[in-house]
This record gives sequence, C-alpha cells and structure tokens, in this order.
Amino acid sequence: MTANLTPASTPGAAPKKRRIFVTTALPYANGKFHLGHMMEYIQADIWVRFQRMQGHKVHWMCADDTHGAPIMIAAEKAGKTPQEFVAEIAATRKEYLDGFHLSIDNWYSTDSPENVELAQDIYRQLKASGFIASKTIEQFFDPVKSMFLPDRYIKGECPKCGTKDQYGDSCENCGAVYAPTDLKNPYSTLSGATPEMRSSEHFFFKLSDPQCVDFLRNWTEGLDRHDKKRLQSEIIAKTKEWLGEDGKLGDWDVSRDAPYFGIPIPDAPGKYFYVWLDAPVGYLASLKNYFDSGKAKFNGESRTFAEFLADPDTEQIHFIGKDIVYFHVLFWPAMLKFAGYKVPDSVNVHGFITVGGEKMSKSRGTGIDPLKYLKIGMNPEWLRYYIAAKLNANVEDVDFTAEDFMARVNSDLIGKFVNIASRTAGFLHKHFDGKLLERQSGVKVGAGEDVAAMSGEIAALYDGREFGKVVRRVMEAADFVNGYYDTSKPWELAKRAATDKDAREQLHVVCTSVLETFRVLAIYLAPIMPRLAGDAFAFLNISRQQWHDLHHPMAPGHAINGYKHLMSRVEEKQLDELFGLLPDPAAPAKAEKPAKALASAKGAASGNAAAKPAALGVQADGFIGIDDFAKVDLRIAKIVNAEQVEGSDKLLRLTLDVGETDGSGQPTTRNVFSGIKSAYAPETLIGQHTVLVANLAPRKMKFGISEGMVLAASAKDEQNEPGLYLLNPHTGAKPGMKVS
Ligand code: MSP
Ligand code: ZN
Repeated sequence: MTANLTPASTPGAAPKKRRIFVTTALPYANGKFHLGHMMEYIQADIWVRFQRMQGHKVHWMCADDTHGAPIMIAAEKAGKTPQEFVAEIAATRKEYLDGFHLSIDNWYSTDSPENVELAQDIYRQLKASGFIASKTIEQFFDPVKSMFLPDRYIKGECPKCGTKDQYGDSCENCGAVYAPTDLKNPYSTLSGATPEMRSSEHFFFKLSDPQCVDFLRNWTEGLDRHDKKRLQSEIIAKTKEWLGEDGKLGDWDVSRDAPYFGIPIPDAPGKYFYVWLDAPVGYLASLKNYFDSGKAKFNGESRTFAEFLADPDTEQIHFIGKDIVYFHVLFWPAMLKFAGYKVPDSVNVHGFITVGGEKMSKSRGTGIDPLKYLKIGMNPEWLRYYIAAKLNANVEDVDFTAEDFMARVNSDLIGKFVNIASRTAGFLHKHFDGKLLERQSGVKVGAGEDVAAMSGEIAALYDGREFGKVVRRVMEAADFVNGYYDTSKPWELAKRAATDKDAREQLHVVCTSVLETFRVLAIYLAPIMPRLAGDAFAFLNISRQQWHDLHHPMAPGHAINGYKHLMSRVEEKQLDELFGLLPDPAAPAKAEKPAKALASAKGAASGNAAAKPAALGVQADGFIGIDDFAKVDLRIAKIVNAEQVEGSDKLLRLTLDVGETDGSGQPTTRNVFSGIKSAYAPETLIGQHTVLVANLAPRKMKFGISEGMVLAASAKDEQNEPGLYLLNPHTGAKPGMKVS
C-alpha cells in the first residue's frame, strides 16, 4: 500500500505555543557522570527537542547538587575546600553534555547566591504561614570531629546477633532492622570515636498539617493543564500508600547543625538547611541565573525571571529517576505551594539503566564510562538511539547489553534507515544530475500511510515519552520504503534508462519517492538523533526541518547534494574496548584473553600466571620491583552473598563488601564471578573473608560485569583432580583493609 505524498489537508489553526520550564535531577557534585545520568539527560533531551521542533519554547535547566555531609567529608578527605571540590567536578560536566548532544540551556550550581536567596525566601514564607515547627532531638555526636553524625557514618555490633561492623539501620548477617541507637559498641566511621548522645534543636516542615495532606492528595492524583495525569499511574499508587489513611506523613527535618556545607537558616545561627531542602530550589536558582545573566533573552525571552514564573502559562516539568520520587512528589510541591510559589505541572519518572543486569556504581565507575565511550570514537547518537528504543513512559528499568546494542544500531539504524539514502542517491546523481522529479503527482510515500496521519501518531508518542514506540513505528515505515525500493528494482530500471523513456521516468519516480520519504523519516528521528538528522538534511540540501515541514515536500526539480557517509556501523571490537575486554596493547601478544583469565579464580595467585612472566615491568632476572607490586590493590573482602550462576558450570557469583560507599555515602558491594564452583558450595562461603584484587579493570562477562578477582591457590591433587583453596585472612581483618 502506498499513499499520496501530498498531505490530504494542511494543518488547521496553529495550536497555542507552550512555554515550558524543564529540569533534570541535579547530580551530586562528588562524582563523575555515569550511564544512568546520561540516560536521564537523553530522555529529557529527546522530549525537549521534540517540543522545540513543534515550535514550543522550552528552557531546560540543570545544576550541580553541591551541599550536604558526604560532599563536605569527601572534600576534607581530598584536602580541599568544599567549594574547590565541587568546582572541579563542575568543570568535568561540559564534555559529557556536549559529547552526547544534550541541549541543556543553563548549567548552574546549588552553591550560588541565587540559591541562597530563593531557599531562604521559601523558608521564610513557610515559616510565616505556620509550616515550620521546632523540636529538640537526640542524635549521635562525634566528639573528635565535633559534629553530629548522619546515620550512615555510624557502625557497631548488631544488637541481635552481635556481628561486628554493621550499619545503623540493619544487619547484613541476620537481617535484623533497628535504629542506630540500638547498636552495641557504636563507633563513628569518620574518626573511630565512640559517639555520644547529644540534643539539638531542629526545624521541621509540617507535612503532617492537614492542609498539606489535602493539597498533596489533590495534586498527586490531579490532571495537568492538558488534561493528562500529572504523575504516572505507578507513582500515583505509591503516593496513595504514602498519603493513605494509615500511612500518615511525618514532619520533615529540614535543618542540620554546623559544621555543614549548606545554606544558613535565617535567624538561626549555626543551623543549615538539609541538602534536600536546597537541592530542588536549585532548579529555580538555575532559572533565575539564566534570566538574570541575559541567557534567556538571548534565547528569545523578553521577560524577567519573576514575570516568567508568575505567568500561569509557564509549565514546570521535572524529569527524575525512581529513587528520588518522594522528594519530588511530596516535599517539593508542598514546599512550593505553601511558600506561594508556582507548583510543578508534572513529574516524569524513569527507571534505572543497568549494564548486563548490573547496577551502576558511582564510586567505581563500572558499567560503561560515557567519556570512554566518546574517546574511543563511538557515535553518541548510537547510544541516544539505543536508549530511545528501550524507553517507554513507565517506571521500568532498562538494560544495556552489548549484543542488543550492536543489533539495534546496525540492523535498524544503518540497515534500515541510513540504507535508504545510500542506495538511492547514486541513481539520482548518475541519471538525473541529482535533481528530483519535476512534478509531484505520481510520487508516492513509502511510509504506508498518509504522512500527516502518521505525524500525529508519532507526535503523540513523543509527547507521551513513548520513545520505544516512536522507533518501532519509524522502523516499520523504513521497512516499507525498503520494500518499495526492492520491488521497484531501480537497478533494472537504470539499465534500461538510456534507451527506454518509461523506465527512466519510473526510475526518477522511485528515487524521488524514496528520498522524500527519507526526509520525512529524518524529521521523525531528529529529536533522537539531531546530528544524524542534520547531516541527512544537508545531504538533501534542505534547511534544518521543523515538525511542520513534514507537510512541505522538497520542491519539484530540487537538487540534492552528493551522498556522504551518514553513519558507520558499530564494530564488535569497539564494544570490547568499551568494556575493557581488549588485551592491553603493551602486554605480550600471546597473553591469555583477560575475560578468559578471569573466568578462573586462579589468576595471579596461581602458578599459571607466574609461568607467563613477560608482563610489563618484569626484569631480565625475573624479579619485579616493589612499585610493580604496589600497582595491585589487594583488599580484604567479606563475602556477603554467594550463589550459583545459571548456565555456568565453573562460576559462582560473589557479592563482596570491600568497605566502599557510593557518592551519597551508602554502602555498596561488588559483584565478582569466580571459577570456584567445583570446590565450594556457595552457602558455605557467605560471611567468610577473602582477598580481592580491587583495581582490576571491570570485565564484561556473559553473565554480567565482574568487578575484581578473588585470590585462590590451586594445584592438581594426588588423584590429579584440581584442588582450589580460597585465601582467608586471620580473624580481625576487616572489609576494605589493604593487603600489602
Ligand atoms: N542530587 C540528587 C538529586 C537532586 S534533584 C533536586 C541525586 N543525584 S544523583 O547524581 O544521585 O542522581 C541524579 C539522577 O540520576 C537521578 O534522577 C537519579 O535517579 C538518576 N540516576 C542515577 N542512577 C541511575 C541509573 N542507573 N539509571 C537511570 N538513572 C539513574 O539523586
Ligand atoms: Zn545481626
């Protein structure tokens, strides 16, 4: 089925132009970006670019989230002031944002005069309207550091089973859940000192106030100005639980005592806002800075910050991940509401991205390093396309796997879309001087249906963040065009073209139809792949297309440019390089492939490794220097879980505590695959300590990412059966201790 290229009807009266203030979550300024951050920005960027192509005005704000205890402590450890520390992180952002074609309008910081002014103003308004209460609370205090201790910096013995070094909320050994004050022999992880109970006055935002609960019930379940739900149904279900009859909201503690890296609370010396109070205010601070600095004007905004915010037509839309919903759908709207500020129109929540089923780790940067991706020359728009193809409007997790990534990019994007242009351009140039047919009648679009009709459907999918469906529909259309091309057999028409006028005419119709459809598909894909679309428009010799251009086919007789390679295929070796699977170029050519080496837990501890002494740094006499040894970061690891790996007869999956925390100070574990299945039943390993090579580059394996290698001794026994013995330190060794 083909349909006429010319749209049946021209669009009616232009719909009202929207003015949208968009934000993405402000990343903590104590770590580099990982793939999860990129996914959030890519999702928002696609949506924002789509709205802009519709002619709507979008201002997309973001900033670094700089305050709080973890950043203060990390800065101290690094021997820097918190300001220096966050400035260094801030300086790394641009490379990622530009690299992945993210069209954020302003990047700012929560450690800014605008944020101080706005956060303090919001607080004053809340206080004036009776929403701030003060209460004296008891808390652990570190007498050495002279500071109150957030729960995550307190450890001690489990009150139930007595296991040492447990965090203040629950026991890893017996699973008991308790309060930090229940721990036996508690200690501060910052100084080792025994914490003391001290009391201090704290300020609370009265979320339990019935006005607040009423407002939140209405707001969370309400519709936005376009009569759509302002929250996704999964999120509404959550808020119903939180706001339900039994699940009453408690008041929210919004103050912290000095020393604290944060914003001082007005009229309360030594008290600071808890970081989660000033963090979302950072959205407004970035917007204010954008207006006050003149950037907004440059972007076609003639109004002031205050005018823009006061305008009821201004929409405020937040993009966030599923872990920070509570803050954004309860605290934030309530704060704004009762301080007399504009309340958000909607909050769009996405799930998490995993790599080969494994979670991101902020502290170790496992998974995919976005900068490495760029540095090894991988195309940022491959990732944008892949992520778009996997996203929908629900709060679902997304998994990146190398095989899937390669298949999607190579077979869809290159094989279907780019292919349309590359196979057609040559004929048009060779036979028609690169010029399209002189008339439009008879030119068909290969999209299978009326362009205008499909554009409505695609637009609705974009607006509703159903990017996976956009990609599917566009690829179906691409299939259709390729099918039309194949059945039209232009290569045969071309052979006859010199002598057969009809064949020549037919060839011209086919090339024109196919390239016109290519233009339409490029417009459809432009929000996802702005650069590829730009290159496609340049090849077609037309200006950057907007959504309404869908209805304006290229002019009869229009001359296109010569075909230039639009996009290359993903190669397997690029993915190997990305995942650190390529042998080190400096290593001997015959060295065992690292992935294979890792499949066995023997590694460096076995005679096997010693038999290959040619590795870097080995001297002629066979010795290595102490510096070479020092490169290996050996750590005590506690096996907190061990389990079978489905589909593997060699490996066990170990979950290891190496005393590490993520960017927000939460304890994290490592995932390590170890080839010790023949020697150990997994349950016997749980709770044991062993030695981990902690700075081995993470390796992608069939079953997931392995983040290090545990050490074991091995040799054939008398029966010539392999014996395997995991190393085990003497009692007293704690997770994270260095082995040297
Ligand atoms: N600083 C807070 C947000 C304050 S907003 C006023 C924070 N920062 S973060 O750096 O930890 O996360 C920033 C965003 O990245 C959040 O929306 C979070 O959900 C998102 N992601 C973090 N890891 C992610 C994945 N693995 N996948 C997708 N998004 C993830 O939270
Ligand atoms: Zn216990």
